[in-house]
Amino acid sequence: MNTVVVGAQWGDEGKGKLIDILSKDMDITVRYQGGSNAGHTVIVGQEQYIFHLLPSAILHPKKVCVIGNGVVVDPRALLEEIDGLEKRGIKVSPRQLKIAVNTHIVMPYHRVLDGLREKMRENKIGTTGRGIGPCYADKVTRCGIRMVDLLNPTVFTEKLKDNLREKNEYFKKVFGQKGFDFKGIFEEYQGYARRLKPYVCDTALYVNAEIKKGRSVLFEGAQGAFLDIDFGTYPFVTSSNTIVGGAPSGCGVAPTRIDKVVAAVKAYTTRVGEGPFPTEFDPKMDDIIRAKGKEFGATTGRARRCGWFDSVLVRYAATIGGYDELAIMKLDVLDELPFLRLCTGYRYKGTVLKDFPHDYQALCHLKPVYEQLPGWQKPVGEVREFRKLPVNARNYLMRIEDLVGVRIKYVSIGSKRDEIITR
Ligand code: IMO
Ligand code: MG
Repeated sequence: MNTVVVGAQWGDEGKGKLIDILSKDMDITVRYQGGSNAGHTVIVGQEQYIFHLLPSAILHPKKVCVIGNGVVVDPRALLEEIDGLEKRGIKVSPRQLKIAVNTHIVMPYHRVLDGLREKMRENKIGTTGRGIGPCYADKVTRCGIRMVDLLNPTVFTEKLKDNLREKNEYFKKVFGQKGFDFKGIFEEYQGYARRLKPYVCDTALYVNAEIKKGRSVLFEGAQGAFLDIDFGTYPFVTSSNTIVGGAPSGCGVAPTRIDKVVAAVKAYTTRVGEGPFPTEFDPKMDDIIRAKGKEFGATTGRARRCGWFDSVLVRYAATIGGYDELAIMKLDVLDELPFLRLCTGYRYKGTVLKDFPHDYQALCHLKPVYEQLPGWQKPVGEVREFRKLPVNARNYLMRIEDLVGVRIKYVSIGSKRDEIITR
């Protein structure tokens, strides 16, 4: 069963943990969009790993991981990740990791531009500063540098020179910065090219050939539906298609080869960075859940904003994503609450909206309509069977299932590998 795992909210739903678990039974795991803005946390025993570019299945030594063409690769960040694992005794071999020839490369000017644009903007996006937006912009403007270009010194020289000619003018005239020197970047990136070359291949051909042989593929999404460039809370989004639709174009596998979609959904809601967030908690409740759920960005360390579960959001995500199953993550974080709220609609200008509005003003001024449910007020971390969950926890989950209209298959009740209930 070729399966896509995506986030249904604003990222950080626990995709890393879910992928680590599901990939155990799959042959290949493919990341298909985003870049080192992602932060996927996997905890094994006492060890915590945070993956930005490497697929979260990389800890299973016999499985193959693929970085697809839809990902933007910062070679420095990727090599740091590979070296970091090696220091912890995990070797990442070219047999185990394959990188698409046609993936786009994050350049130093992308990272700098990300920061400068953010500084200049009146309405900040709160990006991760990893150069993601500028790199995808170059891909679309057709001045990007792909992995295959990086591996060919003649092509790389030409493209880099061309880019610097234009970009340095821009850096000087718009931002009053001195710009970049060809030689420094060229040498740095030739070093990366030498090290990455053994991992590079046409991953679309590779994955399709493996599918033909009957191997199973897990497609690993980064970020979440409301950070999607088309369907998210634009412009407070990331620069790629984070929804299921991003998978086929992001790795060259046809949608007809995808059998199942599993969405990771946090039992509440979080968001990091700027942008509208209808069910955001008041500061006191925000602090409580942030502390209990350790809600700090895995990439930037920023405090995540926290709020009640919003079924309007997740229902919308389920519609555009064709979700087959939900994985409710971090249920244990809500253990102590005397009551919980579920958002079922939005009140705006005298009417109740049941669907997610795209109008920015509506998103900023609407008032969530809540349903209140009693809490379970006991720890769920030891439970391994759905029916053994406290009745109020089950009622909370069943109401989510009703409102979203997708069956709950997994419930995560802790950060460790075995702290998961399969229904
Ligand atoms: P994972 O895969 C949560 C957010 C940033 C910012 C916006 C744009 O761990 O769920 P960008 O640097 O992408 O241009 O920033 O997107 N963002 C994430 N938020 N989880 C992520 O990844 C994110 N990746 C980007 O905070 O609001
Ligand atoms: Mg994350």
